[in-house]
Amino acid sequence: MKIVKIGAEHLGAVAELERRSFSEPWSERALSLLLTDGAFGVVCIAEDRVVAYGGALHALDEAQITNIAVHPDKRRMGYGRAVLRGLLEEGKRQGCTQFSLEVRVSNLGAIALYEREGFFRAGLRKGFYRDPREDAAVMLLCLENKE
Ligand SMILES: CC(C)(COP(=O)(O)OP(=O)(O)OC[C@H]1O[C@@H](n2cnc3c(N)ncnc32)[C@H](O)[C@@H]1OP(=O)(O)O)[C@@H](O)C(=O)NCCC(=O)NCCS
Repeated sequence: MKIVKIGAEHLGAVAELERRSFSEPWSERALSLLLTDGAFGVVCIAEDRVVAYGGALHALDEAQITNIAVHPDKRRMGYGRAVLRGLLEEGKRQGCTQFSLEVRVSNLGAIALYEREGFFRAGLRKGFYRDPREDAAVMLLCLENKE
């Protein structure tokens, strides 16, 4: 298993992960945002295929994680954690010290992953998600406070 920066060659496989994971998936075209300045992303390759990915937008020292998705057949094998750690490493390299994300309040697996990696719940965005409508928990990780 290896974590590499996302490239144009991964976008088709990542769009497929999006479709398999979310009710409102990002298209391949939307995902190409992750290749531009002000964004970054990583993919996890195992057995020669993309099994997981994560993306983030950043400005100054803040990064906003847009999504993390693991192939449905490959969950609970550590790939989500590896992708999250890869995103944090890449963000740190780019000078980010604060990471934020939104997650459905019912997504207890993802919330457990984020909490285990040091994120805390900082607030709630009412009715943030559609299809189905649901609140988002806003989670933060502040590296300056940790080190
Ligand atoms: C959430 C998601 C990214 C987790 O990825 P994963 O590869 O399955 O998670 P990992 O195997 O790396 O798990 C790491 C830790 O997170 C926690 N965790 C992950 N999934 C969990 C679940 N379903 N229930 C409870 N805890 C969970 C556990 O603490 C786990 O450690 P453990 O296996 O030693 O107990 C994956 O389930 C996924 O792609 N879900 C659909 C898309 C999604 O919801 N993305 C997040 C949007 S904000």
